[in-house]
Amino acid sequence: MTSIVERHKKLEKNVTLLAVGAFITVAIGGIVEIAPLFWIDNTIEKVHGMRPYTPLEQAGRDIYVREGCYVCHSQMIRPFRDETERYGHYSLAAESMYDHPFQWGSKRTGPDLARVGNRYSDEWHVQHLRNPQSVVPESVMPKYGFLAETDLTVPDPAANLTALRRVGVPYTDKDIEMALSDLKAQADPDADAADLEERYPKAQIRDFDGDPSRLTEMDALVAYLQMLGTLVDVNSAAAQEEFASEHGR
Ligand code: HEC
Repeated sequence: MTSIVERHKKLEKNVTLLAVGAFITVAIGGIVEIAPLFWIDNTIEKVHGMRPYTPLEQAGRDIYVREGCYVCHSQMIRPFRDETERYGHYSLAAESMYDHPFQWGSKRTGPDLARVGNRYSDEWHVQHLRNPQSVVPESVMPKYGFLAETDLTVPDPAANLTALRRVGVPYTDKDIEMALSDLKAQADPDADAADLEERYPKAQIRDFDGDPSRLTEMDALVAYLQMLGTLVDVNSAAAQEEFASEHGR
C-alpha cells in the first residue's frame, strides 16, 4: 500500500491532477461561502422603524445625488468613538437598505449627514443652502439658492417608485398609485395627509422652504435632510443587533 506521502508526491508531480485537485478544493470553499446566500432572502438585519422614503423625500434624494452632495458629505457613521461622539450612534446596515444608489460617500469635506435630520430648523437649512457662509463664515460649501427658485418637477413619481420596487424597495400598490398626490401633500400644510402619515410613519408633513404657495426643489431637499437618521430608534435597534450577534444569528 502506498503511503499518503507517496500519493501526495504523485499529485504534486502530475500537473493535471494537481490542477483538478486544486479546483475541487477551491470549489468546495466557494460553495460553502456562496450556497447559504441562495436560501436566505436578505443579509441585512431588519430593524424596527425603517421604511421606504416618501415620494417627496425620494425627490429630495434625487436632487442630493444630482447636485453631487455626496462628493463632500458621507452618510455613514463608523463605530469609532470620535465619530459617534460627534455624529451620534454609528450607522446600521438597515438604515441604508432602501438606498439606490447608497450615499455612504468616500470623502468628508463637510460633516457626515447620516443623522442630520431634526438637528437644525428648516429655516436654518434654507438659509445655509442659499448661502452657507452666512451661517458658517469659513464654509467652503457652494451656494444652492436656485433650488428655492426652481419648481419641483418629477415627471412621473409613480414610475420612480415602481423602478425602486423592482430592485427590492417594498412600496405597496397604494403607495405607487398615490405617489403624485403624496408628493404634493407632504409639503402642503392644507392637504389632508393622514393617509400619507399612516403609510409612511414619522413622515414630516409641512412646508419646508418657507414659501407654502410653491412646491420647490428646496422643499424636497430639506424634507430629505430632515428625515435622515430619524426613522430608526437607533438605541433600541442597536440593542436588537447586539442581541442577535450574541445569539449567533
Ligand atoms: C465643496 C464641498 C461641499 C459640497 C459640494 C456640499 N457641501 Fe455641505 N458642507 C460642506 C462643508 C465644508 C460644511 C461645513 C461648514 C458648513 O456648515 O457650511 C457643510 C455643511 C453642510 C451641512 C451642515 C451639517 C452639520 O451637521 O452641520 C449640511 C446639512 C449640508 N452641508 C448639506 C449639503 C447638501 C444638501 C449639499 C448638496 C446640495 C452639500 N451640502 C454640498 C461642504 C460641501
